[in-house]
Amino acid sequence: MEIIRMTADHVAQVAAIEKECFGREGWSQRSVTGELTNALALWLVAVDGDRVAGYVGSQTVCGETDMMNVAVTADFRRRGIAEKLVLALVDELKAIGSRCLTLEVRASNTPAQALYEKLGFTQVGRRPKYYQNPREDALILRKEWEN
Ligand SMILES: CC(C)(COP(=O)(O)OP(=O)(O)OC[C@H]1O[C@@H](n2cnc3c(N)ncnc32)[C@H](O)[C@@H]1OP(=O)(O)O)[C@@H](O)C(=O)NCCC(=O)NCCS
Repeated sequence: MEIIRMTADHVAQVAAIEKECFGREGWSQRSVTGELTNALALWLVAVDGDRVAGYVGSQTVCGETDMMNVAVTADFRRRGIAEKLVLALVDELKAIGSRCLTLEVRASNTPAQALYEKLGFTQVGRRPKYYQNPREDALILRKEWEN
């Protein structure tokens, strides 16, 4: 498994994993394609040959980064891929001078919360009824580091 920058070759598979994981709320192929030319965006993919197993997407403004999404397709889960993706993202963010990584996660998404806790994120807030379908609060988590 290799962690590399997302290119146009990966977009269709990333959008398919978005649909698998987030249904109608997932990013479309067009939205993901837009990230390839977005100067603020940094997306990494975990690839096994030609197959995209997972990805993490981020946007950085003024030294602060938002994680847009992280997902791993079902048959590749629990092999440390999400952990590797987020750690690789943090390394790249440090190199471009970002100081922190913030994300939202559904209050009921305990697997993702366990991942973020393991990686040293802490809760800094809560957005009531942030998500639709089903309606649910978001927990706001953040990880900060020294550059
Ligand atoms: C959350 C998700 C990205 C985790 O991906 P993954 O590659 O399976 O995660 P990893 O194997 O790297 O797990 C790293 C750590 O996260 C935690 N974790 C991951 N999945 C877990 C689960 N199902 N239950 C409990 N803890 C879990 C564990 O602490 C794990 O460490 P361990 O294996 O030493 O116990 C994956 O389940 C997923 O794609 N879910 C659907 C999309 C999603 O919810 N994304 C997050 C949106 S905020």
